[in-house]
Amino acid sequence: MLDLSGGFLYTASFMQVRKIHLKSFGCQMNKLDSSLVVSALTEQGYSLTEKAAEADVIVINTCSVREHAEERVFSHLGHIKHLKKSRPSLLVAVIGCMAQRLGDQLLAHEVVDVVAGPAQLHEVPALIDRAMADHNKHLAVTGNIRQPATSEAVLEDSHKLDDFEIVHDSDANHIKSQAFIRVMRGCNNFCTYCIVPYVRGPEVSRPPQAIIEQAKKLAAQGIRQITLLGQTVNSYSYRSGNKTYTLADLLEKVSAIDGVHWVRFITSHPGRFDASILHVMADNPKVCPYLHIPAQSGSDRILKAMNRGYTARQYIDLMETAREIVPDIAIAGDFIVGFPGETEDDFQATEDLIRRVRYKNAFIFKYSPRPGTHSEKRLEDTIPAEVKQQRNVKLLDVISEIAEQDNKRFLGRTLQVLVEGPSKKPHLNRAENADHPQLIGRSAHDYIVVFNGPESLTGRFVNVTITKTAPLTLFADLT
Ligand code: 5AD
Ligand code: SF4
Repeated sequence: MLDLSGGFLYTASFMQVRKIHLKSFGCQMNKLDSSLVVSALTEQGYSLTEKAAEADVIVINTCSVREHAEERVFSHLGHIKHLKKSRPSLLVAVIGCMAQRLGDQLLAHEVVDVVAGPAQLHEVPALIDRAMADHNKHLAVTGNIRQPATSEAVLEDSHKLDDFEIVHDSDANHIKSQAFIRVMRGCNNFCTYCIVPYVRGPEVSRPPQAIIEQAKKLAAQGIRQITLLGQTVNSYSYRSGNKTYTLADLLEKVSAIDGVHWVRFITSHPGRFDASILHVMADNPKVCPYLHIPAQSGSDRILKAMNRGYTARQYIDLMETAREIVPDIAIAGDFIVGFPGETEDDFQATEDLIRRVRYKNAFIFKYSPRPGTHSEKRLEDTIPAEVKQQRNVKLLDVISEIAEQDNKRFLGRTLQVLVEGPSKKPHLNRAENADHPQLIGRSAHDYIVVFNGPESLTGRFVNVTITKTAPLTLFADLT
């Protein structure tokens, strides 16, 4: 009897669920990493909490791509200092790109207990356990990040996390209908401004069998849309036997899986972009007619200084070919304004390129020198902050003006959308209705579509008719 109650008590305290709180900065790749780490921790018995104040462990997944992203992480660590004062047992793990870039320097921060780089994320649960047990700080980053992994063991390690089943999407809304699958890691391009090759290492493609198996599992769980992820996803290349598998092969194979309705891929690099990808898109209705393909600049001089490997003419030709093969294709892009030495003429060339390509949308970034990159070491950050800001605003205006005109073609058209769920910030100019709240859906072209409907449609495909358009949003009625 005594034994039993002792055993029960022991079990009860052992069963006490430890809580993790996750904060994720940065790109889609980081969101996927965050989801995978949370899944690995959930398997170890952790549960996820939205409230940092009730967490036993706070995991911060970081981004190094611009200085501002790093500053936000440091200010977040500042907030945590107060939490840790009232709860000294709170454990803080900083993971991702900043962890790889700053290593020991981050570990020395007074609130940080664990630091793990993008290639060590599969070790995070063990590192946290160790830190809990020995109350020491633990660091796991790659010594020589550009060293290609030669041994099978190291390669397998780097794929380990990717095979994890995603039980939590860091954007919880999307769990029911869509998922991301990483097809490759790293980047070999060395654009002169970019930190990615230094923090995520060389390109490594995952075996196609692993990707397809994962897609099948996700489809069996009810996932309807799969996005294949890679820093330069069109460079995907995997040699197996006599065949070299490409992104076009992956798109064919993943879209052939029962239950998968839509397949997308991000992000493409305009250099060495193979037309086979466009042909699969044209021939296969499951492959969404959407390309995210950053140009970064429209000036040949700047493109050269950026080491992008193409001219503005070549980029425009590629976009024209894309529109010939897939007439209705939606094109999205990224641009950097204020790269060292960018003159008014260079900037004008970028505006001209945007007007030629007519993007569905494009993200504009102000140049931020990243320590250790070629442009940071060799080129002075000459463009004043106000000029970067003016150029940023100007390009956003141009993009918005184009989207406003082009989106009108959707008026009266019926589109199929995948319903993501209720709108988090309902549009004020739309009627709200308790039974039919505002829902957000996405079209195959990646347009955000707002319409009223029952919440139960979340995760389903529905047809809607477009009644109104704005530069970034289409408004519709259920058909
Ligand atoms: N400064 C500003 N923007 C950058 N990007 C990458 N590195 C920098 C930098 N140092 C932008 C590019 C890229 C996007 C993800 O971030 O436009 O496509
Ligand atoms: Fe960075 Fe260029 Fe690689 Fe993109 S292609 S991740 S911008 S180095």
